[in-house]
Amino acid sequence: MKIAVIQGPNLNMLGIREQHIYGPMNLEQIHDQLKNAASQNGVELEFFQSNLEGELVDRIQECLGTVDGIMINPAAYSHSSIAIKDALSAVELPTVEVHISNIYKREEFRQKSVTASATTGVISGFGPFGYHMGLIALMQIISEIKA
Ligand code: DQA
Repeated sequence: MKIAVIQGPNLNMLGIREQHIYGPMNLEQIHDQLKNAASQNGVELEFFQSNLEGELVDRIQECLGTVDGIMINPAAYSHSSIAIKDALSAVELPTVEVHISNIYKREEFRQKSVTASATTGVISGFGPFGYHMGLIALMQIISEIKA
């Protein structure tokens, strides 16, 4: 089983940016933990981070026929990008959207995700552990499809 982990803009700044909101872990540390959990379950992860909308769209399109599912944190693009939403709708893969912070108790402009409607489900507010939760959810959904 192969899962693409796609990280949007400014997530390369985790560990530096707004630690009171996103915590002290950087993206590499989050990915290392996730890689451990995945390998214990025989899951292969492909990591990608970009600050550019078009690169995220390209990466999502490449997922078609190459991975079994997508875990994505579109970051700020969650609140604006119809292009990312359309790319997710186009590939029709099991997809979990993760937000480190609880977007529903933040500024009003963060409380709506336009990308979420193209995903299987959303995890928001559990810190970096949300990626672990997303992995478990995707493993369950994908194994049900493959069964
Ligand atoms: C975020 C929430 C977004 O509103 C914000 O723009 C981010 C990170 C999160 O993981 O909590 O960059 O997606």
